[in-house]
Amino acid sequence: MSLTEQHKKLERNVTLLGVGAFIAVAIGGIVEIAPLFWIDNTIEEVEGMRPYTPLEQAGRDIYIREGCYVCHSQMIRPFRDEVERYGHYSLAAESMYDHPFQWGSKRTGPDLARVGGRYSDEWHVQHLVDPRSVVPESIMPPYGFLADNELEMGDPAARLETLRGVGVPYSDADVENAEADFLAQADPMADPGDLLDRYPKAQIRDYDGNPGKLTEMDALVAYLQMLGTLVDVDSAAAQEELATETGR
Ligand code: HEC
Repeated sequence: MSLTEQHKKLERNVTLLGVGAFIAVAIGGIVEIAPLFWIDNTIEEVEGMRPYTPLEQAGRDIYIREGCYVCHSQMIRPFRDEVERYGHYSLAAESMYDHPFQWGSKRTGPDLARVGGRYSDEWHVQHLVDPRSVVPESIMPPYGFLADNELEMGDPAARLETLRGVGVPYSDADVENAEADFLAQADPMADPGDLLDRYPKAQIRDYDGNPGKLTEMDALVAYLQMLGTLVDVDSAAAQEELATETGR
């Protein structure tokens, strides 16, 4: 039987054709899917990215509770207009410890992926208490109650343990010290211990301008001031370029 005739037979028999098509598609699928079972990580790691401190994490939880993501994204796309407005485009690794991620799909307000360090703490507090006092045309709702609400600490160690369960690499020391870290980051008078060794670039200060009280405002501003500041993006991007050039 010639090859043409064999092919004819295959094409005219629906069962044979179905089995053949299944095998062809399965090979493609296996080639795509199987490697994912053997690699630990699909995200290229970059230097500087670290899990959030207990206080930043508490601020993040408030961010989610208040639905800030409804109006704000946290992902700068690699387009010129976005990079000129917000800074270096977001790297995948920068949201690798986000559970859930905050990329978002709606920007009623600006992207916040690199808002850390752009404004002073006072600006953030003023803006959250009364957005129109600093940006007259703003349509952002006021969140003044955050400055009155005492920050409920809950069980920060359990919070970190839970995140560890989904793959955030908190160390045993991080979990053990969670409560102390939580309190020390917003209190410049407290002894931070080795907080800065375990969480490089963590900013330690009173954030809400009210040193007598640990408020939800403290945690939220601590979170906002950290956003986009952990990775030295220019050197990370340079590394990436080098890796592409050398084919690694
Ligand atoms: C109804 C939509 C809306 C919600 C909800 C909202 N914002 Fe905004 N936000 C805006 C708009 C619009 C602006 C731009 C005008 C301004 O600066 O106030 C803005 C600006 C900001 C800025 C300044 C960003 C920059 O680069 O200038 C920050 C920080 C911010 N919002 C944080 C928050 C936080 C934190 C929350 C949740 C507690 C929140 N927003 C909730 C609409 C919103």
